[in-house]
Amino acid sequence: MDRYAVIGNPIAHSQSPRIHTAFAQQTGQKMEYTALLAPLDGFVATVEQFCREGGRGLNVTVPFKLEAHDFADRLTPRAEAAGAVNTLRFDTAGVLGDNTDGAGLVADLTLNLGAALQDARVLLLGAGGAARGALLPLLEARPARLTIANRTPARATELAERFGDRAGTCELHAGAFAELAGQNFDIVINATSASLDDHAPPLPEGIYAPGALAYDMVYGAHDTAFMRAARAAGATRVADGLGMLVSQAAESFAVWRGVCPETAPVLAALRAR
Ligand code: ATR
Repeated sequence: MDRYAVIGNPIAHSQSPRIHTAFAQQTGQKMEYTALLAPLDGFVATVEQFCREGGRGLNVTVPFKLEAHDFADRLTPRAEAAGAVNTLRFDTAGVLGDNTDGAGLVADLTLNLGAALQDARVLLLGAGGAARGALLPLLEARPARLTIANRTPARATELAERFGDRAGTCELHAGAFAELAGQNFDIVINATSASLDDHAPPLPEGIYAPGALAYDMVYGAHDTAFMRAARAAGATRVADGLGMLVSQAAESFAVWRGVCPETAPVLAALRAR
């Protein structure tokens, strides 16, 4: 039986084993997928042991995505752009590091939520790892304008500079939250970690265009502070990041198994829980 796992610390509450087991059943793939707790100072040792025991691939989550990036022998372009790895594949050519988070976000926005990214005005909130991981796949979807806003504006500017040569015809802007006053957007994506402390980034009034979608990469049993604030500020549609979780998992599954599972039934089953 081919073995896969999600590695992190903590890991007990990860939904990934449930998701990948459902994908394996759906596509008839014979594989096992478990959760692997690594000590905070023992990522590489835990991965090497998993490999020795015949492991074929890993999903990597907090706090090991940078270590996984350094551990990989070769990186996909999207992992290189993200500067972080959430998917490792062990094969005869060595260790491949990939990052499927941004592709999962774009797939959730376009396929599950039916949002049109092409020619849209998109606002990305945050300039940390989550924002960086989303940037290349977002730019590849060819929005008309992509604005990165962050509490520390210099980090947003730095990100925009890093990705400037990949923007194509997209207008790429960066700045502080207050600088958004007077602008409006079709899709607003929260890639800050503020939701984890039940805070919402302080956005000026009027940033949601008619029909706008507000999307939080975070998910939980209840709406996040960002989702509540977006609704109050007039966003037409509001979504959490559970669909992104399922869609990034589907991308990882395809990297390992060469088959792309359907996400909708798995997402519906998770929502029903
Ligand atoms: P991650 O990997 O989740 O992106 P990170 O790299 O630590 O984590 O980045 C966290 C992001 O959330 C940053 O953009 C951070 O803003 P700063 O760059 O100014 O630190 C943002 N963030 C965290 N808490 C926030 C809050 N309460 N309000 C607004 N932004 C917040």
